[in-house]
Amino acid sequence: MDGADLAYLRTADGIAAVAAADRLALTESSLLSDVSTVRRVAGAHAPAVIEQVRARRRAAGKLGDVSGWMLTDEAVQQATPSAVAEHRARRLAWLSVHDVTCSIGSELSALVQVCPRVVGSDIDPVRAQMAAHNVPRALVYVADALTPTSNADVVIADPARRSGGRRIVDPEQMSPPLSALRAAYAGRSLAVKTAPGIDYEGLRRAGFSGEVEIVSLDGGVREACLWSGPVAVPGLTRATVLRGLRSFEVVSTDPHDVDPDAPGKFLIEPDGAVIRAGLVRHYAGRHGLWQLDPHIAYLTGDAVPDGERGFEIVEQMKFSEKALRAELRARDVGSVEILTRGAGVDPDVLRKQLKLQGSQPMTVVITRIAREVVAFLTRPTR
Ligand SMILES: C[S@@+](CC[C@H](N)C(=O)[O-])C[C@H]1O[C@@H](n2cnc3c(N)ncnc32)[C@H](O)[C@@H]1O
Repeated sequence: MDGADLAYLRTADGIAAVAAADRLALTESSLLSDVSTVRRVAGAHAPAVIEQVRARRRAAGKLGDVSGWMLTDEAVQQATPSAVAEHRARRLAWLSVHDVTCSIGSELSALVQVCPRVVGSDIDPVRAQMAAHNVPRALVYVADALTPTSNADVVIADPARRSGGRRIVDPEQMSPPLSALRAAYAGRSLAVKTAPGIDYEGLRRAGFSGEVEIVSLDGGVREACLWSGPVAVPGLTRATVLRGLRSFEVVSTDPHDVDPDAPGKFLIEPDGAVIRAGLVRHYAGRHGLWQLDPHIAYLTGDAVPDGERGFEIVEQMKFSEKALRAELRARDVGSVEILTRGAGVDPDVLRKQLKLQGSQPMTVVITRIAREVVAFLTRPTR
């Protein structure tokens, strides 16, 4: 999509063409005939009209209400989900904030709700125009993130992390790279969004002294945000678990003097953000849980924390495929959910090998305790 497409989409004809195209299915099978229908109304702008409708449909679950927004498919894929953007914005309430890679403005849209002054910039002029259209309350312009252009209290950056369809984890391969951003904003409050799989321990060893925040949304780990400057808590690692009204956080300063011990009544697998942040024992300490093995993230205890899914232990056995099959058959089990950590077991392969034919469901948790691989037959609490 280029500037001429964008200008057309903002005219009355463009708005009408998008509304008309939105009445079409625009599925793989209908696309050919839909394109000729849209072409009759929008001429050469038909691909941009169709992309607009498809991008808005794709954005609906992720970015909330985007009716009237200008988007591209790729920008929607890259955008921060609104729940994550709102979480970041709440931390920055009452501060002035500059999003230096604002793209179509999904972070700006959350920031303008709580911050007195919001600036957005992007190196891509079409995206900057879209952001200005989508979030009129922000001041938006075209700029290179590596040239500071505002005196905002906090700078946030979400560098591009895809190249040729490949997802980038190395922060130096991002565009712009992490070290260049840190150099450009040295001494200022800076939040850089990176891939959740980033080697943040390696960054700390290399001298990063700020705060690392791992964020999950509805069970999926979405990002690692690196905070530095006055807005950061130096040296802190934070796991933020966003789950609507059941959101919570765990931090590395929480008590975590918890020793591994024998299984209690339930097994519990902490949220991925807690695991990625290395805060399993901190989470355990908070909920009266403990580990089975100091190197494995499964927790156990006699009660399941509110809102979590736990697994009531029915039977514990030394793991062997043969013994597990016999036990499951004796219990008339026909379908198994298999959870495993640290045991070197492939759940899909094992499920096929078990060849179960019974009628009951069961969840099997296979893990390592010290040097022994152990299987727990369990019933999920929900
Ligand atoms: C992952 S997207 C940002 C998404 C945005 N946070 C959102 O939620 O919609 C990355 C953006 O960085 C922009 N970008 C890449 N290099 C840049 C640079 N040197 N200066 C400014 N923007 C840049 C890209 O044009 C792209 O829009």
